[in-house]
Amino acid sequence: MITHVRRLSLLLAVFILASCAKDAPQDTLTPEGKYAKKIDTLQKPVFLIAIVVAVFVFLLIAFAVMKFREKPGDDPDELPEQLHGNTKLEIGWTILPALVLAAISALTLPVIFELTEEPDEYLAVDVWGQKYWWGYEYPGEGNEAYGIEADGIRTANELHIPVGVPVYMTLRSTDVIHSFWAPKLNGKRDVVPGRTHTWKLEADEPGVYSGQCAEFCGTSHAFMRLKVVAHDDAGWAEWVEQMQAPLEEPEEGSLAAEGFELFAQKGCQGCHQVDGAYEEVAEDAPSAPNLTKLFTRDCFAGCIYDLTDRNELEAWLRDPQRKDGSLMVIGELTEDEIDRLYAYLETLR
Ligand code: CUA
Repeated sequence: MITHVRRLSLLLAVFILASCAKDAPQDTLTPEGKYAKKIDTLQKPVFLIAIVVAVFVFLLIAFAVMKFREKPGDDPDELPEQLHGNTKLEIGWTILPALVLAAISALTLPVIFELTEEPDEYLAVDVWGQKYWWGYEYPGEGNEAYGIEADGIRTANELHIPVGVPVYMTLRSTDVIHSFWAPKLNGKRDVVPGRTHTWKLEADEPGVYSGQCAEFCGTSHAFMRLKVVAHDDAGWAEWVEQMQAPLEEPEEGSLAAEGFELFAQKGCQGCHQVDGAYEEVAEDAPSAPNLTKLFTRDCFAGCIYDLTDRNELEAWLRDPQRKDGSLMVIGELTEDEIDRLYAYLETLR
């Protein structure tokens, strides 16, 4: 008996401890935006209903176990009285769950529609899911109210948004199924090749919200993270201005200028766009992250490496395969070449 109690309390402790987290940036139970809050508001009554059902079922089981257990003097070989067919009971256990499910769907359906509805006014962003990173394009058309010019803005991994504004995203995939998920701002939305899905985000407060791909998409699925950076008005204006400012050309004869040449020699611009610097690459489905303002971000390669740490980017240039399934092929670089490339990349801000 004692060991049973011990085992049971250990199991209980595991469940309780598993729900503890000191730092949980992807906790869906602490929503920080309009849409995530709608989901949170919905999950409370649904969870309550589930608790009532669970308690009811457990009590019935306990009752059956106690009442029909083998009593002293019973013949263990003799079957208890067998029952079959109780119309009232059968109708009861068909109708009752149907009513419970009807109540849950009455609560759920309006929220599902609300979450996919196109807002009246919004910042539009095209999102590309690819193995294993996220690309973002802010079209100029329709986004004038948010300061975005005709050329639009292209970036990757970090999605920047203004606070208190609905962000309406058009999600596409160029390869396999991914799922866009920034838990504190909204639920998950699948990103499916050949289809166009839409999804919304909104943040109440400025801050950085982490997210990740939520659909298994290959060996580096777990390394397909993202960040949503929400700005107040001034911060947003600053970001937009910086993203739209023309790049400064590297000074002639500098290490960065050599890096600029090397970037083209190695064929980097065949996949990575640097807006205006080299000839345009693939029109609407970028095959590699846009690097135009690379150094305005602080993470890269699906947000798993720290861009503020020079060593991380150098290690990446040395071996992009350190992230399994990376499509980047650059061949072996000398340390001198890495220095030149780094010097150029650093000017992309
Ligand atoms: Cu993309 Cu998992």
